[in-house]
Amino acid sequence: MTYLRTVQLSSTCITHKKIRPRILQVNVTDMLLVQNILVILVSFSYLISAEQQNKYEVYQKIQQDLESMKFENEARFMKTDIKIANMKERISQQDEIIRQQQELIERLQGNQELQKHTRQVSVQTKVAFTYRTSSDHSSLGSDQTIKFDRRMTDVSNSYSTSTGIFTAPVGGYYAFVLDTRTLPGRICWIDAVKNGVPIATNYMEAPSGQEDSETSFAVVRLDTGDQVWVRNKVYHGHSCGLDDLANFSGFLLYEDL
Ligand SMILES: *[C@@H]1O[C@H](CO)[C@@H](O)[C@H](O)[C@H]1NC(C)=O
Repeated sequence: MTYLRTVQLSSTCITHKKIRPRILQVNVTDMLLVQNILVILVSFSYLISAEQQNKYEVYQKIQQDLESMKFENEARFMKTDIKIANMKERISQQDEIIRQQQELIERLQGNQELQKHTRQVSVQTKVAFTYRTSSDHSSLGSDQTIKFDRRMTDVSNSYSTSTGIFTAPVGGYYAFVLDTRTLPGRICWIDAVKNGVPIATNYMEAPSGQEDSETSFAVVRLDTGDQVWVRNKVYHGHSCGLDDLANFSGFLLYEDL
């Protein structure tokens, strides 16, 4: 039938018209609807105006055409459904990629923290010293500072032999060892002090003609600039005397980070 072919031709034209994807998304259903209605209207107008003897033939042809139009529509909708499913799949794949990248970023940030920490540890301040007395202190006064004037080792030069005071170059935990020996027959009370407050004590009581020695150890927290030194306390009026081999050592255990 020529008239039906004409209608189909015009509908094909609409379908093949170049439609940009954005417009297609919005209008594909509307276009299809308009096209379908047009085909139906034109077909039925021919049916009504057809000669009585041709009506049955025309009617059959219209039915066939409607049937194929239905299939065509179904196929188009199916294609759209598949496209949507594909898009959903792609979106979920991209979500997964974003999630993995966020994980990676977090791991990298963790690594940076670790590197920062490692750097700090590797540049930790070094403090380690031992000083020794070089002569006897035969008569120590009350609160007199004992100066350890012989430098045995000192990596940070934080102990002053002229003042007898150790000054913490950084905050942290420090360990100190105090090693003293009396002159024969003397009674001594020697304190290691932090900013004037005792942190360790050597108490020695030598019988006459003999010496007595003691060692003490302390771990203390110091802020930068805190001071530690060794001083004599006159115990019950006893005159203290130390021999020339007293040792005072210290080192930094953990630096504040
Ligand atoms: C101090 O150290 C030296 C060397 O080890 C040692 O000869 C001396 O006896 C020590 N002093 C004391 C009081 O222990």
